[in-house]
Amino acid sequence: QSLLPTGYTFRSLRRSDYKLGHLDVLADLAHIGDISEEEWIERFDYLARCGGTYFVLVIVEVGDDGDRGEKRIVGTGTLVVERKFLFKLGIQGHIEDIGIKADQQGKGLGVKMLKALDSIAKDVGCYKTILDCSAKNEGFYVKCGYEKAGTEMQHYF
Ligand code: ACO
Repeated sequence: QSLLPTGYTFRSLRRSDYKLGHLDVLADLAHIGDISEEEWIERFDYLARCGGTYFVLVIVEVGDDGDRGEKRIVGTGTLVVERKFLFKLGIQGHIEDIGIKADQQGKGLGVKMLKALDSIAKDVGCYKTILDCSAKNEGFYVKCGYEKAGTEMQHYF
């Protein structure tokens, strides 16, 4: 939190964040499609019921009165915690859906988002975090301490 530039705050995603532009940030990342507020809340509630598995953080632009003057969400990122049988019941973190609003990129918000998610991963006992990204973002993740490993495969249905 203290690492963020003035005018921004970090917090977990809230049930009211549809109105604060959560999907607008994700729209800069990939295709979203039409999602009503009711559908968004249904998904939010599902994730909330999976206690300790989904950690969705947001960076919010705030006014002079701090947290009470929240203007809009400008960044988001998700940690999914996978509890394995392998590696003596190892816990692995998956970093997903990191997005910083286009007009806010280059201010260090992305690296802070990733560090915050990594820190949660460490706190819940993950032995590592992994992620998939496009080649154009490789340099960003290297700067955040990640190294290239494996080959991504996919199977659409
Ligand atoms: N390639 C190489 N270096 C980069 C890139 C890049 N694509 N983007 C940022 N950097 C560098 C910056 O120059 C900076 O370097 P410095 O410390 O030497 O000055 C450092 O990485 C940190 O940059 P930030 O300002 O923290 O990056 P930003 O806030 O712009 O966030 C991000 C980067 C998340 C990739 C942002 O550009 C974004 O949201 N892009 C669109 C959505 C996207 O592609 N998200 C990633 C999907 S992959 C996934 O979610 C697992």
